Amino acid sequence: MSEMEALHSKTLAEIAAAADEAALEAVRVAALGKKGSISALLSGLGKMAPDERKAEGAAINALKDSVVEALAARRALLKEAALEARLKTETVDVTLPIPARGIELGRIHPVSQVMDELAAIFADMGFSIAEGPDIETDDYNFTKLNFPPDHPARDMHDTFFFNPDAQGQRKVLRTHTSPVQVRTMLTQKPPIRVICPGRTYRCDSDQTHTPMFHQVEGLVIDRSANLGHLKWILEEFFKAFFEVSEVKMRFRPSFFPFTEPSMEVDIQCARKGGEIRFGEGEDWLEVLGCGMVHSNVLRNCGLDPDVYQGFAWGIGIDRIATLKYGMPDLRAFFEADIRWLRHYGFRPLDLPTLVGGLSA
Ligand code: DAH
Repeated sequence: MSEMEALHSKTLAEIAAAADEAALEAVRVAALGKKGSISALLSGLGKMAPDERKAEGAAINALKDSVVEALAARRALLKEAALEARLKTETVDVTLPIPARGIELGRIHPVSQVMDELAAIFADMGFSIAEGPDIETDDYNFTKLNFPPDHPARDMHDTFFFNPDAQGQRKVLRTHTSPVQVRTMLTQKPPIRVICPGRTYRCDSDQTHTPMFHQVEGLVIDRSANLGHLKWILEEFFKAFFEVSEVKMRFRPSFFPFTEPSMEVDIQCARKGGEIRFGEGEDWLEVLGCGMVHSNVLRNCGLDPDVYQGFAWGIGIDRIATLKYGMPDLRAFFEADIRWLRHYGFRPLDLPTLVGGLSA
């Protein structure tokens, strides 16, 4: 057997004996690598006479091609065997419980949950959602809402003011969601039925007040909207929200610059050992302000008060969240304590719907 034939059969034997891809790679390097046996034969061609080189060259290349082919065939075989072995050992038991991680560990904040609940309830009554910016002009936050200049009501709100801009205009962090009423009336034609949930700001902080809090505004404008409609809407809302079959409400006269008449609404409840229950009891709890939209506000927003009328209301979202889910200290809402969120938060995939249950 020639030297080349011996090398050929030795290499083929090594390829056949390689038990895995790493061993096969070692065989490849030993034969075809820079310092490999076949590479050495090829580099020896340069020293040969032209005739000899022709014959030897063809033979060496045939040897190389045969080895390359054997390597590829063996590699394919080993790959398939490796995959088969993995499939045999890495089985998935689909009957095992889903491990607690990712989506299972995440929680929806109660404020987000309540906002989703509000959206579900009011969407069912034909309302859409309107939004406005947190940084608002003094004009939209106060003036267009019929707060006269220098009226004490402007101070009532403990407003965060920005420094005056080049035109001397002071922007504010909106003190309520009512400026979204203005934005909506200025851009939409009646009939209007919107709710405006969002962040609001006042310089105030204690167990029941935080400098940033959440409100939801409601606004209905058409040619005949009246307080009877408002009362029905609020009653249906509170029944759905607190998931009870009856809610007793009480309307008390009040004052807001942007409504006339203005009212505050209490709902009946029972307080038992720090817990509040709705639909029963003798106590009253204030939950919102409301009224008929003031004719000055309609006029300021380009609507003719002889043609259009409507009503509006404003509810503190954090407040109704604490009432529904029994969270005593409002400040904990915004402390971002993961233990609090794990306890009071909601599962991300349990979206509130009227058919599936709001907080089920
Ligand atoms: N904007 C009021 C507040 O923050 C709440 C409110 C009261 C809104 C009466 C209304 C309303 O739309 O009609 O105190």
